[in-house]
Amino acid sequence: MKKFYAFLMVLAVSLSLGCSTPERTWLDEALDYCAAQSQRALDELQPLDYTLSPRNIAPDAQHWSTRPVSKELWTEGFWPGILWYSYEHSGNAAVRTAAEGYTEALGFLKDMPAYDHDLGFIIFCSYGNGYRLTENPAYKEVIVAIADRIIELYNPQVGTLLSWPREVENFGGHNTIMDNMINLETLFWASEVTGDTRYAAIARSHADVTMQYHFREDGSSYHVAVYNAESGAFERGCTHQGYADDSMWARGQAWAIYGYTMCYRFTQDPRYLAMAQKATDIYLKRLPEDHIPYWDFDDPRIPNAPRDASAAAVVASALVELSGYVDMETSAHYLHEAETMLRTLDTAYRAGEQSPAFLLHSTGHHPAGSEIDYAIVYADYYYIEALLRLKQLNQQ
Ligand code: GLY
Repeated sequence: MKKFYAFLMVLAVSLSLGCSTPERTWLDEALDYCAAQSQRALDELQPLDYTLSPRNIAPDAQHWSTRPVSKELWTEGFWPGILWYSYEHSGNAAVRTAAEGYTEALGFLKDMPAYDHDLGFIIFCSYGNGYRLTENPAYKEVIVAIADRIIELYNPQVGTLLSWPREVENFGGHNTIMDNMINLETLFWASEVTGDTRYAAIARSHADVTMQYHFREDGSSYHVAVYNAESGAFERGCTHQGYADDSMWARGQAWAIYGYTMCYRFTQDPRYLAMAQKATDIYLKRLPEDHIPYWDFDDPRIPNAPRDASAAAVVASALVELSGYVDMETSAHYLHEAETMLRTLDTAYRAGEQSPAFLLHSTGHHPAGSEIDYAIVYADYYYIEALLRLKQLNQQ
C-alpha cells in the first residue's frame, strides 16, 4: 500500500510541475554529475593514499583539502560513503576499489575506546554503505564492534550517550548533542543483525530522553543538552555550533529531522514519527524562499548571513524517507519540499568547474570561524544520498 501511495505522490508532484517525468531527467543528470565530480576528485588525489581523508574546499580553492585519518576526525566516513553511493549509481569497479580502500583505512577505530559519539557517523557512512552493497561479512563485524564502542558512552542515570567526553568539564556535566541521534542508526542496525537487543534498548532510551529535553515547545532544538551525570537530571539546553543557546542551528535541526525519521524506520514507534514531523514543520515554516537555510535561523544578519547547503542536503534526504511514512497529502508535501531543495542545490549551489566537490556554500562551525561558505564533504554525502533515495522512490 505504501508503494502505491508513493507512486501516486510522485505522479502528483510530476503533474503539478507540468510535465510527465521530469524527475528521471534531472535526477539522472544530477547523479551523473556527482559520479563525474567524484571521479574527478579521485583523479586529482592520485596516487591514492587511503589514510588521507578529503574534508573541505575553501571558497578560493580548487582541490579537496585532506586530513590524516584519526580517532578525532568525525568527517572521515563521508568520503568513502560518497564513493559507495557513486559506485551504486555508476557500477564503476575502480570507484568500488577506492571505496573499499578508504573504508578499510577506518577499521582501526574498532580497537580503541570511543573518542566521542561520532563513531556512528564515521562507520555507518563507510562500512554501513559498504556492507549494504557488498555484504562483505568483515564489514559487518566492524560495524558491530563499533556499536560496542558507542554504547560504552551510555550513562544509564541520564539515559543518553555522552557526546563529548573531553567537554564534560567545559559544559559542567554529561553533554549530549543533537548530532548524536545519527549514531543510533549503528545501534539499531547492530541489534537487527545480531539479535542482541541491548544496542536498540540504548538507542531507544537515548531517543526518548532527547525527545523529552532537547526540544522547545515549537519543535526547534537545542544543540547541546547538559545533564547531571550522577542524578541524571536535565540541567540546561545550550549551543556549541549555533548562534545562541535559544536559536535554531540549521544543521542541528537537520540532524533532529533525520534522526527521528531513522528511529521510526527501525521501531515504527509513532512518537518518533510525530517528533520527526514536528521538527520538520518548524524547519520548513522558517526556510527562506529558495529552501536553503541560513546557517542558523536566528542569526540577526539574515539575509546577509552564510547559508548551509549541508543542512539542506541532510533534510532533503530525510524528507524523501519521511514521505514514505505519512498520509498521502503530507507525503506529497514533503516530496515537493525535498525536490525544491534538491533542485535549488542542483542549479544554484553546484561547484561545477570550480572544484571537484558537488556543492558549494556550507557552514561548518560558524562560532569558531571555521569552514564558513566552504564546500564540505558531508554536504556532498547527504546530497547524493538524497538523489539516490528520490530516484529509488521514483522507480518503485
Ligand atoms: N556533527 C558536527 C556537525 O554537524 O557539525
